[in-house]
Amino acid sequence: MSLLGRDLALDLGGASTRIYIRGKGIVLDEPSVIVRDLRTGKVIGYGADAAGGTGGETCWPVSGGLPVDGELARRMIRHFIRKVHWHPFSRPRMVMALPDDSTPIERKALREVAYDADARGIVMIPHALAAALGAGLAVKDCAGHMVIDIGRDSTRIAVLSGESVVATTTVPGGGHAMDRAIVRLVESEYGLLIDEGEAESAKLRAGTEWKPLDRHVTVHGHDPETGRERSVPLPVQGIYEATRQPVEAIVRAAVETVERCPAELTADLGERGAVLVGGGALLRGLGRRLRAELCMPVRRSERPLESLALGLGRCMENLGLTAKLRRR
Ligand SMILES: Nc1ncnc2c1ncn2[C@@H]1O[C@H](COP(=O)(O)OP(=O)(O)OP(=O)(O)O)[C@@H](O)[C@H]1O
Ligand SMILES: [Mg+2]
Repeated sequence: MSLLGRDLALDLGGASTRIYIRGKGIVLDEPSVIVRDLRTGKVIGYGADAAGGTGGETCWPVSGGLPVDGELARRMIRHFIRKVHWHPFSRPRMVMALPDDSTPIERKALREVAYDADARGIVMIPHALAAALGAGLAVKDCAGHMVIDIGRDSTRIAVLSGESVVATTTVPGGGHAMDRAIVRLVESEYGLLIDEGEAESAKLRAGTEWKPLDRHVTVHGHDPETGRERSVPLPVQGIYEATRQPVEAIVRAAVETVERCPAELTADLGERGAVLVGGGALLRGLGRRLRAELCMPVRRSERPLESLALGLGRCMENLGLTAKLRRR
């Protein structure tokens, strides 16, 4: 490690924070969560130590790549950095993603949080570029590429050509909206109240590959009529149906994004299609549904959960590219 400390890439996700270190790859992947004592408000756990409930108040201080609670976000980032970058004298330089549709005030807030969390220097890479690089797209190529990042609270759609971001759209709603849709379905169809964690677990247990939808996953919840706990077998088809509305919002936004592009890029997109990144990309049947609705090839990146961190890591490893991107 140099005297000035290591460089690291930080994917500050609403669901998970990932840190990539030069020469090592992804060294930290933990939930972006903090638990506070209900009575005193004191932080009692961060990340993996906090997930699973320690009885306090659970806070998610980041959403859509931006801090929603600056102080908690700062403390969480500092905690994660110290876990992977302990150095007696120095602070790391950090490469981070700049949310595409963020306002100058939001960007300033993100920078401030990162500096206050111990960064020595910060390089911001447009989110779309980092996601595309992490998905293995040849971004230098002048042909059009589309990347759709389905995270926890938002979905970011972008068309790129020749290292430039041509069009972007951010849709409020990602994996968390799908969980809420499952909660509503279980309540209306089965009269059972389940929490969002249980809905997410059912979604994950439904698997990631498209297969005939004949399986069931069991969900546990509270029956308000009897006041008792109860389980029901939820058909995987139900999860597919429940997530129809959030998926439709993504499709509409993707179609509008393509419509804003020059005609020659639209033709490229019809041929090359879109690549999906982010955890939401793992939703069973999603690729198939998007392919049918967008009428273009749609594929999932190899490591969707890690794509953004890998793209940021690539920018960091290749400082020439970083300097170039920085001028944009
Ligand atoms: N196998 C799966 N099937 C369906 N959804 C999944 C699966 N695995 C993860 N997810 C969902 O992906 C979401 C998290 O994705 P990801 O880790 O990319 O988000 P993030 O990068 O932390 O958030 P953001 O990009 O919005 O800031 C969660 O809502 C989670 O439920
Ligand atoms: Mg993300």
